[in-house]
Amino acid sequence: MEKVKISQYNVYIDEVIQDYDFYFDSINQSNRLFVITDETVFNLYQSTFLSKTKREVFWFILEPGDKSKNVDNLLKISRFLFDKDFKRNDIITSFGGGMVNDITGMAASLYYRGVNLIHIPTSLIGQVDSSIGGKTGVNFDYCKNVLGTFYDPRLVLIETNYLKTLPKREITNGLGELIKAGFIGDEKIIKTIEKTKDAYLNPKLIKRAIELKKNFVESDYYDRGARHVLNLGHTFGHAIESASNFNISHGEAVIMGMIKALEIGESFGLTKPSTLKRLKDLLVEIDFELPNVEYKDYQNFLQKDKKSFEEGIKLTVLEDIGEPAIVEISWEKLNELAHKKE
Ligand SMILES: NC(=O)c1ccc[n+]([C@@H]2O[C@H](COP(=O)([O-])OP(=O)(O)OC[C@H]3O[C@@H](n4cnc5c(N)ncnc54)[C@H](O)[C@@H]3O)[C@@H](O)[C@H]2O)c1
Repeated sequence: MEKVKISQYNVYIDEVIQDYDFYFDSINQSNRLFVITDETVFNLYQSTFLSKTKREVFWFILEPGDKSKNVDNLLKISRFLFDKDFKRNDIITSFGGGMVNDITGMAASLYYRGVNLIHIPTSLIGQVDSSIGGKTGVNFDYCKNVLGTFYDPRLVLIETNYLKTLPKREITNGLGELIKAGFIGDEKIIKTIEKTKDAYLNPKLIKRAIELKKNFVESDYYDRGARHVLNLGHTFGHAIESASNFNISHGEAVIMGMIKALEIGESFGLTKPSTLKRLKDLLVEIDFELPNVEYKDYQNFLQKDKKSFEEGIKLTVLEDIGEPAIVEISWEKLNELAHKKE
């Protein structure tokens, strides 16, 4: 069993965790558990979940996919808690991927101004990223995470065995975040993925990615400076994801965004060409197929990004592996670069 402590909460990581109640008891003795999940995870793992707890479980099941991460469902979850007479010492648990983690986290942060929250992430993105760091949120008018809060769980339980049923595309998705973590600050992650294709099933690798994120989160919880580095690939990624109406997934979009960021870094003479090459080689290694998207398709969404300003946009690039830098690029220069490529 691996363990990472992040500010006030513990993250436990193993292939399988047999007894959830042992960990839930450290939060409180309430017998009631409100579990938010999606249909796919529910169908696959309802009985597995129930075999790990003796608590009374109330299920709220969302349709799978990022389209469910919306204000309507946030209100429906609140209604569900209210109708079931949720008490302050009861526990809300997110059991699913990043979509479920984000909307559940937001509901938990709003209900009674904050109630007990536990994340049990079942996707690779959930395990290495969305269950860690306290960001919650829902999308608004097809724009990503427009509404959101910062709210920490009391506990995170990670079992890599759940990843065995993830479709290949979702694994690639999560690998995008793992690769991002490696490029930002832990080359060992990159080397491990270069060597072993299913390295992500190893709790020790998941732990490394979490530890990397922990360092940024603890030094800049509210994302005002140091934590921007974690956005490598996300500025373009979010725009691409939104423009595709979420047909391009988060992880795929982040990978494309990383390539864009490194190309921009190169155009500034900052990023070493060998860094972009290593990323592209690694993508071949994991059989990643770049979706076909053009700059003009997502340009408008970039302009709506939180990091945009009148003349341009701020984004994270890399000088080298483990050496992130923040640059500002003008709309004019972005247009120029896009025309050169397309
Ligand atoms: N809060 C944060 O810091 C943060 C960080 C990264 C990503 N995110 C958010 O996370 C979301 C993306 O995460 P995601 O890709 O996990 O999304 P997701 O929850 O939509 O899961 C992706 C798919 O995998 C399925 N799935 C999940 N676990 C499974 C399992 N064990 N077996 C089979 N299928 C399974 C889901 O049903 C879904 O169809 C986005 O909304 C993104 O904005 C948040």
